Amino acid sequence: MVRLALVGMMGSGKSSVAQMLGTRLQIPYLDLDEEIERHTGTTIPKLFAEAGESGFRAAERAVLEDVTAAFRGRELILATGGGVVTDPSARALLRREFQTVWLQATVATLAQRVRAQALERPLLQQGEGTEQRLSELSRAREAMYCDAATFSVTVDGKTVGEVAEEIIRWVKRQTGK
Ligand code: S3P
Repeated sequence: MVRLALVGMMGSGKSSVAQMLGTRLQIPYLDLDEEIERHTGTTIPKLFAEAGESGFRAAERAVLEDVTAAFRGRELILATGGGVVTDPSARALLRREFQTVWLQATVATLAQRVRAQALERPLLQQGEGTEQRLSELSRAREAMYCDAATFSVTVDGKTVGEVAEEIIRWVKRQTGK
């Protein structure tokens, strides 16, 4: 039974790696940010603007619980949002319900990727430069990612396919699948 949750900073590649894993392992994959938007009927930037970060975290935790319940006993690859680990009960749920993989990246890699993606990330729009903000968030969350994770993989200089392959090799060692 493969039930993987991917955690890591924004720009670490969780969504694309989850999609690749889903395709290669032939397992359904979901993106928690997309599920939040679907469940709340709004966008993440609007949710942040209307409910603040704490309102967003509450919605994120509730949707994580719903998705976990909907897939109980079934295989799933779940890409989470970068800040899900800041909620202790979400970390506990990830540890209990999934094998959690931390995609580790340097700030330089993250900054390059979030600039290239040009998606709206409310937590990066707070005055300071992107690198400084990513560096602060990364440092503040490191112990939380570590706490949530069963396994970690560095992504710097690797393609999505290479990261997915490393994870698949680890999964196969665990499950013999
Ligand atoms: C966040 C990361 C985002 C999204 C929200 C908050 C964070 O997801 O959940 O903007 O706190 O790091 P990605 O990691 O998929 O960008």
